[in-house]
Amino acid sequence: MERRNFFKNTLITTGSLLLGGAVIHRFLNDKEQVDSSLPPVVEKIHQGDGRNVLVLMSAGTRLGNTDRLTDAYIKGLVERGHSVTKVYLGSMRIEGCRGCGACQRNARHQCVVQDGMQKLYPLFEECDTVVMASPLYFWTITSRLKAFIERLYAISINDQYPSKNTVLLMTAGDDKETTFEEPLRYFRIISRVLGDNEKGTYCVGGCTGCEKLARQIDKKHLDNAYEMGMEL
Ligand SMILES: Cc1cc2nc3c(=O)[nH]c(=O)nc-3n(C[C@H](O)[C@H](O)[C@H](O)COP(=O)(O)O)c2cc1C
Repeated sequence: MERRNFFKNTLITTGSLLLGGAVIHRFLNDKEQVDSSLPPVVEKIHQGDGRNVLVLMSAGTRLGNTDRLTDAYIKGLVERGHSVTKVYLGSMRIEGCRGCGACQRNARHQCVVQDGMQKLYPLFEECDTVVMASPLYFWTITSRLKAFIERLYAISINDQYPSKNTVLLMTAGDDKETTFEEPLRYFRIISRVLGDNEKGTYCVGGCTGCEKLARQIDKKHLDNAYEMGMEL
């Protein structure tokens, strides 16, 4: 009887040790894989003598329609000698505002939520121009871009926000007169909040989306966006 118990206990102990080792090994390896595959979320594209432009690219897919439109615009900015920082909001974890009000009660107006925004607050404060790029999702901008905007509440003082030039770039599947009605209206409100310095919008309908194998945006729109970038 005692011998049987001894074997049973030995088997359980050995099994637990092996299982524990396997879990630890998997955890370490998983972590390695995830870290090495993460693309950069903030890219300093160019340092120039012109404006300081912060580009918020909020599509989840890199090299998709919105990203390509954004890059064409950035190409124009760079040629004009502007400084450009591009942020991939789709690769970041950014919560919406919790409405706790802590930011308004502390003198430094800091948001208590510790996530990707902590990296973006200084970039936003330093820039003079903010470019919001988004695919149309359910008739409006992405939730990622909306979350970024909500979190600006932290740096507001008596409901006043820093003054910025604003630009909107969008893509969508539909191509009707009303397709971008909603986000355009919202963008104009946000631009007013940021000092009413709107510097242009470019909204491209009729793009092929993720339902097809290859996304597609007409090259003429990339050329137009590039020209628009040159004119900022
Ligand atoms: C979740 C989701 C919602 C969408 N909602 C709309 C919409 O309301 N109207 C529209 O025209 N296109 C809609 N689309 C299509 C995209 O706006 C369009 O394919 C866009 O060009 C994709 O951009 P991307 O390649 O940068 O991701 C939606 C796509 C997705 C994935």
